[in-house]
Amino acid sequence: GANPLLRPVGSPMAVIAHRGASSAAPENTLVSDEVARRGGAEWIENDVQPSKDGVPYVLHDTDVDRTTDGTGPIRSLTAAEVDALDAGSWFGPAYAGARVPALAAQLDDLRGRGGNMLLEIKGRHSRAEVARIVEEVRDHGMAGRVVVQSFDVDALKYTRALAPELPLGLLRAELDPDPVAVARELGLSTYNPPAGELLAHPGLAGSLHAAGVAVTVWTVDDATRWNSLEALGTDGIITNRPAELSGWNAGR
Ligand code: G3P
Ligand code: CA
Repeated sequence: GANPLLRPVGSPMAVIAHRGASSAAPENTLVSDEVARRGGAEWIENDVQPSKDGVPYVLHDTDVDRTTDGTGPIRSLTAAEVDALDAGSWFGPAYAGARVPALAAQLDDLRGRGGNMLLEIKGRHSRAEVARIVEEVRDHGMAGRVVVQSFDVDALKYTRALAPELPLGLLRAELDPDPVAVARELGLSTYNPPAGELLAHPGLAGSLHAAGVAVTVWTVDDATRWNSLEALGTDGIITNRPAELSGWNAGR
């Protein structure tokens, strides 16, 4: 199908809320997603990892310590144990009781309210673990509204084999010597470098676009870089401040 992240000429860049509106609410919770939507973000970026018993949850860190009242790796906790965690109090008392969402709950919420998910398969996943994620996306009728991204090439290959309908994005900390070749080899819909890499390589968006591939950059929270990146042809920006960036978009 059409590439959902490729920006038609003259239209605004996609605002992709990094872990939801993570500057304004606890990251990777339903409340941070709601804040992002109210701020005008059409896309939410969420990180996904399994519990001990294989249920995919939305969490960034390997361990639950920083963003919940629990301790240890999420892979050492059962789904029932993850469900009992408080993922809001660390951010502020107003958010007490926010949960670590199961991917199923996250997809339900998005389907009901509108919006798209940039789903990051975080860390190493087995093929069976990727299969469970794909199954959740399909079961919730969200295949047309999810793009799967990862730093892990194997996770993208598993996703492609299991679900050819899901668009893929490759996260990179540094540019590949030939990003277009990598994009073609993996069948990417979007290539995701840090914003600084695109600013340092102004021709990158053009060469990716010629191959039908979008470029989405992480993570931009200021107006100056926003304007420069838009001029270079960036398709979407991953940001912790979606409300502010949506405002800049609407102001054009
Ligand atoms: O979406 C890009 C960005 O989320 C990758 O870094 O550590 O925030 O998952 P991280
Ligand atoms: Ca991420």
